[in-house]
Amino acid sequence: MSRLTPPKKEELDPIEIASRDEISALQLDRMKWSVKHAYDNVPLFKKRFDEAGVHPSDLKALEDLGKLPFCYKQDLRDNYPFGMFAVPQKDIVRLHASSGTTGRATVVAYTKNDIDNWADMVARSIRASGGRPEHMVHVTYGYGLFTGGLGAHYGAERLGCTVVPFGGGQTERQVQLITDFKPDIIMVTPSYMMAIAEEFKRQGLDPAASSLKGGIFGAEPWTEAMRQQIEAVFDMDALDIYGLSEVMGPGVANECIETKDGLTVWEDHFYPEIINPETGEVLPDGETGELVFTTLAKEAFPVIRYRTGDLTRLLPGTARSMRRIEKITGRVDDMLIIRGVNLFPSHVEDLAVATSGLTAHYVLEVTREGVMDELTVKVERDPIGDRDESVGHELQKRIKSVLGVTSKVIVCEPGDLERSAGKAKRVIDHRKL
Ligand code: DLL
Repeated sequence: MSRLTPPKKEELDPIEIASRDEISALQLDRMKWSVKHAYDNVPLFKKRFDEAGVHPSDLKALEDLGKLPFCYKQDLRDNYPFGMFAVPQKDIVRLHASSGTTGRATVVAYTKNDIDNWADMVARSIRASGGRPEHMVHVTYGYGLFTGGLGAHYGAERLGCTVVPFGGGQTERQVQLITDFKPDIIMVTPSYMMAIAEEFKRQGLDPAASSLKGGIFGAEPWTEAMRQQIEAVFDMDALDIYGLSEVMGPGVANECIETKDGLTVWEDHFYPEIINPETGEVLPDGETGELVFTTLAKEAFPVIRYRTGDLTRLLPGTARSMRRIEKITGRVDDMLIIRGVNLFPSHVEDLAVATSGLTAHYVLEVTREGVMDELTVKVERDPIGDRDESVGHELQKRIKSVLGVTSKVIVCEPGDLERSAGKAKRVIDHRKL
């Protein structure tokens, strides 16, 4: 099966390969507009700026952004449902919302222009992944209040692709339609892609023989090891797409197929900063910290210095002039502290996938016995091959030697752990329950 190919230079938006000076000039222009728009129309921003003694007119250079106050997910919750919208409802054409499993739901809004720009950014992301107008795109991200389904859908249509709006779930039927319709590209969470691979095999089909040439995976952290596994199992290119509802949805950043070396941030619409999550200090490019975004063109829901909670670093452009973020290792709030050692689920995923006989289906459970934290890693064995107890010990040894954490590894049977049709739940922290 053939794989995807990079777009030609003349197919790109000129700004994607413009000089850094041109990009910065556009960013500054747009940033001045966006900051003023937020200040003038969203009471929260006005209050925060006034309290901090800053004004939109203080923004004379991009670096001045660092003088402005942050905004947080909690601000959206406190202003639930519509308190942070910057335009009257008659100008709003769409709402999306997060489920609010960890707190009150958060609601975001879009004007007609916002939806248009979003479609452009997702179309650009699909094109960066090697997608072309003649491709058929099977969308498995959930439709509805989640931004994944409709975001992917509008972007694929904007590029001119044929869209199959499947949504999540019904794994058996997903496989049937992929087999019958022969799409070129699938857009889905990486963890659910693994479940689809299993269903192919259950039906006696070889995933590598499917029509799929590429997948655009995001909405949750996934590792380089997982990419290699998906690419091998499906004989496809696996690309990373990043985004969040508060900033827009999918398509804030996307990998370029030429390099697959981190995700290019679509800097003409979203201005990234990396900060020290504890002190709020802006860090230089190259240093790891929390990703912060300022929207540059959003009308209905502008955010200024929004704390994403995602950990990464900013890198110079390669396939495009725009800067890249490194693949996201995890979120500030996903970080487990086990007996004083910091650990992300992705660290364990890397080791599990690299251990022959084990799979990327895993969950971490943390309990506290007295004063001691206990980490239990439940991981499914590879259905191919016999049950071999020693693989569990092997992983346990690696977790100890590489990550410095004592753990208990339980090797589960294939299918024992819950499959999610959307974002996978990787951590059950009984200390918090
Ligand atoms: O997950 C939007 C999206 C849909 C992105 C489909 C990509 C594909 P939220 O539900 O608001 O929006 O969740 C946003 O998900 O802050 C990250 O923690 C995480 N996330 C999203 N994409 C990636 C990625 C959508 N590629 C939150 N790698 C973000 C790692 C990701 N984490």
